[in-house]
Amino acid sequence: MSVSLRDVAKSAKVSVGTVSNVLNRPEIVAEKTLNRVRETIKELGFVPNGFARQLRFGNSRTIGLIVPDVSNPFFTEVARGVEDGANKRDYAVFLCNSDESVQKEERYINVLIEQQVRGVLFSPSDIKSNRMEEMKGRGISVTLLDQEQKGNNHCSVSVDDIYGGRIAIEYLSDLGHHDIAWVCGPESIPQVAERGIGVAKAAKAGNVKIETIRVPLMNSAQGEEAAKAILELPTLPTAVFCANDLLALGVMRGLMAAKVKVPDQISILGYDDIKFASSAAIPLSSISQPAYQIGVTAADLLLSECEDGESHQHQQIKFQPKLVERESTKKR
Ligand code: RIB
Repeated sequence: MSVSLRDVAKSAKVSVGTVSNVLNRPEIVAEKTLNRVRETIKELGFVPNGFARQLRFGNSRTIGLIVPDVSNPFFTEVARGVEDGANKRDYAVFLCNSDESVQKEERYINVLIEQQVRGVLFSPSDIKSNRMEEMKGRGISVTLLDQEQKGNNHCSVSVDDIYGGRIAIEYLSDLGHHDIAWVCGPESIPQVAERGIGVAKAAKAGNVKIETIRVPLMNSAQGEEAAKAILELPTLPTAVFCANDLLALGVMRGLMAAKVKVPDQISILGYDDIKFASSAAIPLSSISQPAYQIGVTAADLLLSECEDGESHQHQQIKFQPKLVERESTKKR
């Protein structure tokens, strides 16, 4: 139940008119009354509709960034872009890791609301998360990061992951690979689900057999587990496409430990093109995402919304991933 102006007046033992003056003409209110009413507003979490931004007594110069896992170099790069973009406009960034956990994400959103950040950038662990509207109702702008905002309630910066999945399979098929293992994380991660749509589209069009190996987390340890599953398949696929580079590096480690020759016996293709991809044991071919640019662009969109107020026009910016070919893939 949202708190009303009347609730604030009653709790602070002043008239509704005085609360309105505190919000809109604080200069005419006695300091003692001003402080008491402001304290009551903060305690009750009062947010007047449509004027929430004016509640910013100190016009907070902080934003929140919630990413799944900052130890994934992709998000390290995104976070670097966000911070550079924010610092350019004299804002500080609170960095939070959700670990793809809705519960952990919820806790961080509560903290960011309490801290009265100006805006939040995040990749929701559950796209149906209704916290975005709640934050907006409290005067906190929200920009979706690495996911597309369907509709036009918020800004978003994303990558065309369906296209990314498609060009990966088309590339491997053009190299003569028609039996491919697709190693991916949970479908609940929208980016992964969209890559899978691209994989399925290209596989159908190119008559390519796909063996899907799904892992709970998208890190290199799970990539090594996926390598064991690949080795147990009835026939060894001639190529592996992984939903991100950490999985691909783990698969590479696992297959090479089993004396499988990469790429002579099996080609490996990743996704993200993180900085370590080019310095892997066998330099990794990957579908590249402009991580730093995603971060800078998302920060710019969010802070424009924070500062332009009602004149702001939401934007959905989508980047195209690109194939980066290295030694881990070759013609069959
Ligand atoms: O969070 C998992 C993956 O989604 C990252 O590796 C990156 O590809 C992101 O888009």
